[in-house]
Parts: sequence; C-alpha cells; structure tokens
Amino acid sequence: MKFSALIFDLDGVLVHTDKFHYLAWKSLAESLGITTFDEKVNERLKGVSRMTSLEIVLSLGKKEYSASEKQAFAETKNTLYREYLSKMTPDDVTNEVRGTLRFLKARGIKIGLGSVSKNAPYILERTDLEKYFDAVSDGNGLINSKPDPEVFLKAAERLAVSPKDSAVVEDAAAGIDAAIAGGFYAIAYNLQYAKANIQIKDFSLLKQII
Ligand code: BG6
Ligand code: MG
Repeated sequence: MKFSALIFDLDGVLVHTDKFHYLAWKSLAESLGITTFDEKVNERLKGVSRMTSLEIVLSLGKKEYSASEKQAFAETKNTLYREYLSKMTPDDVTNEVRGTLRFLKARGIKIGLGSVSKNAPYILERTDLEKYFDAVSDGNGLINSKPDPEVFLKAAERLAVSPKDSAVVEDAAAGIDAAIAGGFYAIAYNLQYAKANIQIKDFSLLKQII
C-alpha cells in the first residue's frame, strides 16, 4: 500500500456542486451587468475562497464596490447556491465514488476531506457522505485558501498522517498547487495539469493507484 491516507477535495471531485457554484455566480454577475462571466473564467474560481471568487467576478466589470456591498454580493450568491444544495440527495453521489470510498475504507486507508468551502458540512450531510470520513478540514476557521496548503495540512494532522504518506485528489489547479506545496502526492481528477503527479479521468482508478 503506497498511501496511509487519501484526502479529497469536495466540489467537482466527490460531487458536482461546481455546476451550482457556476450558476449562482453567473446569476450574480448578470444582476451586476457583467456579461462576460463564462465557464472559462469559472475555472479560475475553483479551489479559491468565496471572497476571492467574488473579486475575480467583479474584476470583469468596471465598477468599484465598498466592503459592505461585496459582503452583500457574496451573501446573495451563497443564498442562491444553498438553494441548489438544499435539493441535493444521496443520489447526487455516483456509485463509482461511493464504491471507491467503501473500497478504500475496507483496505484500511484513512479518508479525509480538504475543501475550502464553508458549505462542506452541509453538502456532506445532504449527500450522506459524512460516514466515510475519518477527518474533515473545510473552509470554516480556515485562514488561507488553496493554493496555500493549510486545508490539506489540517486534514493530515486530524488524520494523524504525514503528508508524504498521503495523496490529495483535486480537480483544480489551485488545489494541485496546494497539495504539492504541502508535500502530498497530487492526483488531478478531470483536470489537465502537468504539475500533478498523476492525472486521472476515471475515479475508480484510485483503487489501483493506492
Ligand atoms: C471550493 C470551490 O471548493 O469552495 C470554490 O472550488 C469556492 O469555487 C470555495 O469558491 C468556497 O465555497 P463556499 O461554499 O464556502 O462559498
Ligand atoms: Mg474542486
């Protein structure tokens, strides 16, 4: 066994909440008269915090906003995003993902979450994924978002494993950078990024990599 633990990103790896993030940001952008927000810009929002995402969206427009206006925009986006989340069910997790997590658990591999989302606990609860995790590290109480390794280092600490014995599974460039900065083996899932140690398109391939 190569790894003692696998640490997973959430949005875009275990569940496709990335599409809900996109729709909610798109709606906010349009309400502010920003028409150039598209899937390509959205790639830059992956793995970074809510406020950094907002700054990227606002940078497409010409207007300047106060800190309290920005706070209100972030809340508007999050309210819409959570409306999508509230409709999620365990069926939003594929059999491939669930089966792979079960397989890893049965092999004695520790499973951690490393997501900068403050909504991570709600998503895990909606989709009935909590039970697979030995440790959760999320955006609540986090100081630095990816590409800083903080979120993964906290997960490793909670799992009582060393980064060098652990792998991170990520769909965002910022997440791969964070994994490498933290000394983890970096697995890119559904992402072409040469800095990753390995790139996979098929989630169940994890069963062979470990
Ligand atoms: C990450 C997403 O998982 O969470 C980012 O990839 C998002 O796009 C970030 O900005 C923060 O999410 P939340 O749920 O706290 O707004
Ligand atoms: Mg992601």
